[in-house]
Amino acid sequence: MRQDAIGTRVLLTGVLILVITINAAAQQPYSSKGLKDYYQQYFPIGVAVSANQLKDSAQTALILQEFNSLTPENAMKMGPIHPEEGRYNWRDADLIVNFAQQHHLKIRGHNLCWHNQTPKWFFYDGNGKLVSKTVLLQRLKDHIYQVVGRYKGKIYAWDVVNEAVADDDSQLLRNSLWYQICGEDFIAKAFQYAHEADPDAILFYNDYNTEQPQKRERIYRLLKQLLADGVPINAVGLQAHWSLNKPSTENLIATIKKYASLGLQVQITELDISVFTSNDERIPAAAAEQRQAEQYQRVFEVFREFKKELTGVTFWNLSDRSSWLNNFPVPGRKNYPLLFDQSLKPKAAYWKVTQF
Ligand code: GLA
Repeated sequence: MRQDAIGTRVLLTGVLILVITINAAAQQPYSSKGLKDYYQQYFPIGVAVSANQLKDSAQTALILQEFNSLTPENAMKMGPIHPEEGRYNWRDADLIVNFAQQHHLKIRGHNLCWHNQTPKWFFYDGNGKLVSKTVLLQRLKDHIYQVVGRYKGKIYAWDVVNEAVADDDSQLLRNSLWYQICGEDFIAKAFQYAHEADPDAILFYNDYNTEQPQKRERIYRLLKQLLADGVPINAVGLQAHWSLNKPSTENLIATIKKYASLGLQVQITELDISVFTSNDERIPAAAAEQRQAEQYQRVFEVFREFKKELTGVTFWNLSDRSSWLNNFPVPGRKNYPLLFDQSLKPKAAYWKVTQF
């Protein structure tokens, strides 16, 4: 009788332990470690944020648990920070910098010269005519001196020029107003001004589709020329707005190697992995989440392999709740490109990235 009772109890305890183990594995409860801790021996792990997100305690708790670097998603772009000539709007940028300093997070500045989100006044005079090259470069210099100067010593790296290379294979540089007015000189000048404003900051050229062989080659040509001309450029940012089928491991590795061969640091600056492979595709959610997790796993394997060349990996926002890919490029289409879901819970991809 007694033997039976003990046997039953042992059996029940065994079943209970099994159930708890299975349940724990399924839910993967948070450890006290965050991404930044798993990657401590590799590179800082950053996240792009808005000032408003830093007013939300659930989001700030997650940021502090997981990340050790911040990038202002929009607050330091020319439009938001310098909406009119001589008028700067420092509020949101200051809030992000103060938060980062208070919590000992690194800060990447983003960005100083771009064809998008730049106010029209930069390029036009009071009569609505395009300004001269001299005027535009003076405006660029004032802007960079003010913005970089204000955060000197607080921001360790700046995306100085963003997306200046053309998508069209027949041209090297994008036909932007910067290019139309200044020719190619605006690029070297932007780096020169940034270096003068903060000689210690690490200065980046930042772009997308850097893994596409033709665009990779054109960016490489530009970087090589800048270095040959003695321009103070230190690093290249791979934006990494990727998807379920891009980039291939081969192209990613070739890109990191190619830019690193110039002696430049490489960072992943705006990482997200869309759950779509094209604009008209709809993949069942469970399958997409699984493929996304595998793609995240693949690219992080490469990142770890190239830890000598890579000096940072930054995600382009915190969770699927607030990604720029919601509604873009397809209006009304929700995307799920990040490691945390809409309730800020880690997704399958999170565990693939942290368990190695
Ligand atoms: C580019 C810019 C970013 C951001 C994304 C889309 O990658 O560098 O600042 O605007 O586009 O949101």
